Parts: sequence; structure tokens; C-alpha cells
Amino acid sequence: MEAEQFTMESVIAGRYTIEHRIGRGGEGVVYAAHDTARHATVAIKVAHDRDKGLAKRFERERSVLERLCHPCVPRLRDAGTMPDGRPFIVVDYIFGIRLDHLQQVRPLSLDEALVCALTVARTLDAIHAIGVLHRDIKPRNILVPVRDGDLVLTQTTLLDYCMTRDVTHAEEGRTSSGTWSGTPLYMAPEQLVGRAQTAATDVFGLGATLHELVFGHAPMAHVVQHTFTYQIFGEPREVILVPERLTEDVVLPSDPAIPRSLTELLESVLRKDMTKRCQSVELVATALLDILRDVGSSWAEPNATDVRIALGPTAQEWLTNRECERAKAWGR
Ligand SMILES: Nc1ncnc2c1ncn2[C@@H]1O[C@H](COP(=O)(O)OP(=O)(O)O)[C@@H](O)[C@H]1O
Ligand SMILES: [Mg+2]
Repeated sequence: MEAEQFTMESVIAGRYTIEHRIGRGGEGVVYAAHDTARHATVAIKVAHDRDKGLAKRFERERSVLERLCHPCVPRLRDAGTMPDGRPFIVVDYIFGIRLDHLQQVRPLSLDEALVCALTVARTLDAIHAIGVLHRDIKPRNILVPVRDGDLVLTQTTLLDYCMTRDVTHAEEGRTSSGTWSGTPLYMAPEQLVGRAQTAATDVFGLGATLHELVFGHAPMAHVVQHTFTYQIFGEPREVILVPERLTEDVVLPSDPAIPRSLTELLESVLRKDMTKRCQSVELVATALLDILRDVGSSWAEPNATDVRIALGPTAQEWLTNRECERAKAWGR
């Protein structure tokens, strides 16, 4: 069911004035809104419907965000239920570009990609430290903030905590209603088949994201993809499954520009057998820092805590067009 379209100036919970629609994911529609109580811009995710499983996932997201206080995790501001029963969640709005869009308008160089991945690895380490697995690491869930015409790589933010599970309950890939969710291209084999998951499952998602940043596509994106239709949230959705992911190890594209140490790291984080995979995001972070050092990047220095790169004209134009389109869509 398509969520109701709020109009500009619609007010949620007597306090959040909708400004425009930002995005639409598997769980809900996200709007930018003005918080009239705090005079700040927020992002409000409103669930697609009142499905019980979805309400549980919103509750998961709320409870994980409440426990996480991290500069690269959106800060929780509020949560509640719409009059029609759909849950919503309110976090700080982050002005930026998602990694999947960045890939199209300003592909990252190798050292830039390494800093992004390192930032996400450190954030994941903080998430794992409170006993939570993210389970949906992918470029679409990662946003690089833009400030004063720069992309702030060291503030790369991990979004979307709907799929999270406590480590002790991370056995299922399915939702409570017996349906299936997630993004197969970035999911570890054990998650695809609903087996027990550990920190190594997020290691795979991080590796698949890094693979895309380095090679321009997800691992095994070239093999024949089989599309299945699943009932998700009461409506049929197409899901792409890659059976080879379950039976084969990822073979990396050969590229002489990629250092051997990075190839070795990618092979180790993308192993299909989770027991043979690199086991912790902390180890991935250490390896990424070593690779940055190997390629002679000054960003490997301990004082490189604020790495910014110029947006460039193409990405700047893309952002401006996006803002115009959003304003137009809302009759401004
Ligand atoms: N705090 C935020 N600031 C800016 N944009 C956001 C924020 N949270 C989400 N978005 C945008 O909304 C999209 C969907 O959000 P997400 O939390 O991933 O929802 P879903 O669970 O439906 O996938 C994101 O891909 C991103 O473009
Ligand atoms: Mg999402």
C-alpha cells in the first residue's frame, strides 16, 4: 500500500511541519520537516502501513537509536504513532549525498573510498559493542554529509536501523510474518538462507559496499540474477537472488590499480563461509588504515579526523537539481 501523501505544511504530532519528501525505502517514506518546538530540520520516517511486523521493526530502530550516541549515527529525536496507526520515527536531518548516488555523480577515488569504508567500519564497531548487528549495510543506507560545498568523509553516516537484531537473536533473515526482507546483493550467504548471524555478517555487508566503491558494482552483480517475488508487508515485491553467492566465493575483477593488500582484504571479508571470513569490523578498520598507509595517504595519520573533499561541479549540479525537483514536487 502506498503511504498517504502528506502535503507541504501537513503537521505530524502537532509539531513537525512537512517540507518535502526525501526518500522511500523498504519500510517507509522519509520526509524532511521543520520541528517547530526546537526550530530544527528533522527527518521523519513514516511506516508504509500498520503491519505488525513493521511496527516491531520501527520499535527496533527506535530502541537501537536510543542506545546509540555516535557522530555517524542519526540522532533520535522522537517516535510515535500516526492517528491511523502507522508508526513514525524522528531523527536529525542530514544534508548530504547517499553513496549510491555519489557513485553516479562523483565516483570516489581509492583513498576516498577507503576513508568512507573506515568511517563505516568504526561506526559498526560501536554498534556491535552494544550487542547489535545492523544487517542492512549497503550504499543506499550510507549518507555522506555535505558542508560548505565539501563532502565530509569522516562523518559518513550509517542510516536505517530497522533490520537490526541483538546478537543473541540474530538467527532469522525473515520478518515475524514469515516474509523475507533485505537487499540480497549486499547480504551475506548465512543471512540469505536465514541461518545464525554474527558480526561477520555485517563484515560481509561492509565488504560488499567497499567492493562497489572500488569496482563500481556489488560483488557478483554480473552473474545471472534470478528474480523471485515475495510477499513483503502484505504486497508482492520483487527480490533478486543470486544463488552463486551461496555456492561460490567472490572472484574479484582484476585491476592492476588495486593494491594487493586491498584485494586480500576484500577476499577475506567476502568469503561465503562465515567461519573463514574476517570476524570483526575492528579488524577490517585496522586493515583499511594499513592500506591507506600503504598507498601513502596522509589520511592514515591519527589527526585525520576531519577529511573533506570538494563536491565538484557535477555533484553540485546534481544536488541543486534535486533540491529544485523536491521544491517543484511540493508546489513551491
Ligand atoms: N536522517 C536523515 N537525513 C537525510 N536523509 C535521510 C535520513 N534518514 C533517511 N534519509 C533518506 O531516506 C531514505 C530512506 O531511509 P531509510 O531509513 O533507509 O528507510 P527504509 O528503512 O525505508 O529503507 C534514505 O536512503 C535517505 O535517502
Ligand atoms: Mg533503507
